[in-house]
Amino acid sequence: MRDLDPDEVSAIYEDLEMTYQIEWRRRGHRSMHLGYYDDEDQDPGEAAKNTVRLLSEAVGIDSGDRVLDVGCGAGEGAVWNAQVNGATVLGVDIGGRQLELARENAREHDVEERVSFALDNFHELTSVPDGSMDVVWGLEALSHSPDRVGALEQFRRVLAADGRVAFTDIFLRSPTDDDRVREVEDALGLRLGTIDAFERALEETGFENASVRDETDGVRPSTESRRQFARVAHPVGRVLGLVGLITERQLDAFRASSLVHELVEESLLGYYLVTADRGETGTNTN
Ligand SMILES: C[S@@+](CC[C@H](N)C(=O)[O-])C[C@H]1O[C@@H](n2cnc3c(N)ncnc32)[C@H](O)[C@@H]1O
Repeated sequence: MRDLDPDEVSAIYEDLEMTYQIEWRRRGHRSMHLGYYDDEDQDPGEAAKNTVRLLSEAVGIDSGDRVLDVGCGAGEGAVWNAQVNGATVLGVDIGGRQLELARENAREHDVEERVSFALDNFHELTSVPDGSMDVVWGLEALSHSPDRVGALEQFRRVLAADGRVAFTDIFLRSPTDDDRVREVEDALGLRLGTIDAFERALEETGFENASVRDETDGVRPSTESRRQFARVAHPVGRVLGLVGLITERQLDAFRASSLVHELVEESLLGYYLVTADRGETGTNTN
């Protein structure tokens, strides 16, 4: 996979904060991921919470669990797991601004005692000791990884012997050289691998009992609503760009949101929920 500079990814999210803030005001919470719709008329804020609930139920988080939220963004998954499941959570992200928003989020929800955040790259996890976590949780973060095997090796290192992982993300359904995929990757700082390659990476790194669920239909209304937003935001943004109010990067990201929906509709991209157990080989002693 092509390499990707973490600073580039952070810069994209910094530029997109304004767009997220609009969504957050509408939703009343700070999720940065796609919403999972039980039905098409569902409130978008509820749908975004649904995605978190779905992942949490799939991996079975409870109050004894120490959860590592990789690519925690503005802390919505971390806060939710602490508040609803009573878990202890460490959120890591490469974006300093996201961590600021995440800490504020934890303060506002009064879960600071159980939630902390650290600036860390999930390919390195320098702030996380071996065997110190029960669950590694990644909500739309791994799609940014140019080295999923390297990331998974780190996740295994920090997990206790009976630990588990839980991810939801966008994956390619099969290999493709479609130019639109490259355009989406460049605009959003992503590296989109196939779901099959990810399953192989889990196996190769020692994870066991992997479960892969295709949840594309549930998030389709969410990709559609991002496309609708982008359809308005892109032409307006071009005008605002002329007077320096919107950057080229933001414009590219708006176009990429439309393309994601197009690629989902054409079945090139799918949205998957993946869980797996750490597995015994190379078990940590602590
Ligand atoms: C789509 S957002 C999802 C945020 C959050 N999980 C949520 O669902 O609201 C992806 C996040 O992953 C972070 N990220 C990307 N690459 C990363 C890396 N290598 N290490 C840590 N965080 C990363 C980004 O900065 C961003 O905050």
